[in-house]
Amino acid sequence: MADMKDVLILGIESSCDETAAAVVKNGREILSDVIASQADFHEQYGGVVPELASRMHVDALYPCIDSALKQAGVTLDDIDAVAVTYGPGLVGALLVGLSAAKGLCAASGKPLVGVNHLHGHICANYLCFPELEPEFLCLCVSGGNTQIIHVRSYSELTILGKTRDDAAGEAIDKIARVIGLGYPGGPKMDKAGQDGDIHAYEFSTSHMGDTLDFSFSGIKTSALNLINQTRQKGDEINVCDFAASYQHHIAKILADHTVKASKQTGIKKICLAGGVSANSFLRKEFDEASTKHDLKLYYPKLRLCTDNAAMIASAGYYDYIDGKTHDLSLNAVPSLKLGR
Ligand code: KG4
Repeated sequence: MADMKDVLILGIESSCDETAAAVVKNGREILSDVIASQADFHEQYGGVVPELASRMHVDALYPCIDSALKQAGVTLDDIDAVAVTYGPGLVGALLVGLSAAKGLCAASGKPLVGVNHLHGHICANYLCFPELEPEFLCLCVSGGNTQIIHVRSYSELTILGKTRDDAAGEAIDKIARVIGLGYPGGPKMDKAGQDGDIHAYEFSTSHMGDTLDFSFSGIKTSALNLINQTRQKGDEINVCDFAASYQHHIAKILADHTVKASKQTGIKKICLAGGVSANSFLRKEFDEASTKHDLKLYYPKLRLCTDNAAMIASAGYYDYIDGKTHDLSLNAVPSLKLGR
């Protein structure tokens, strides 16, 4: 049981294909972290089917919330606020979690805290590193987003650079499909590339001038062209080498831009966040860059890189103690933006 002064947040996440609930103490300590993943189910369709994802969230959410409370050894009465992802994500999927959170708040009188899913990804680092405090730079890389964020404080975020087209995760997932690895592409590409040669294939790089912005659609197209040209000659690409070279290329661009952001701002504390931060090529590239440029690097443990509700509860905690709560008219915002 928690002390009187402890703040307990129930987090709820349903923005894509993971139904999740968690209880977190004081924004930092995970008391429970329950995740029901739909990935195995969507594999047969080669990607997430939004309508089916929403229906599965409906079935899975209450058991998840129940387990999260039980595993934490608390009841709803002990909870100080309910934090829920209200965007970005699939609108139907978001609405399931949001409606459940609103229902709990309406019934219990607890405050509702709407959380930006991307802010949650950043906060996954607070759950793993008790000593970590703003300010720092965060490379947030997920299936739908690629951004370099200046985390000025727990609530003040400034976007320094972002992708102008595809996210890094989407560029990896798409090519995974084309080379026959299927869904979910990120983890499969990562595994396939483990024994591959990172210098076997070359891809284009899009230069964004002096900005810290990214562009991955040209890189994705250069990979597609390479695959098609090889197939037209009656050959096949070497999947392991291709996966290794492609991920290394993308990881290097992400690391180079983040190092550039560090030099421009003078900030040497760097965090990684989002599903793609689980990628071993990305982690290795950043490990090397941090040694070379004397950076202090943080990335969450694997379970907290991908979607979970503990990170939502952590983000919700910082909003809650800042007085930022929502009323029950809060709606899902599928393309919710982060920061300024
Ligand atoms: O943050 P996330 O779980 O969901 C979004 O909010 O988008 O990120 C999903 C992305 C996908 O592109 C997925 O392929 C990638 O993260 N990913 C991984 C791994 N797990 C998820 N990429 C590489 N290795 C992994 N283990």
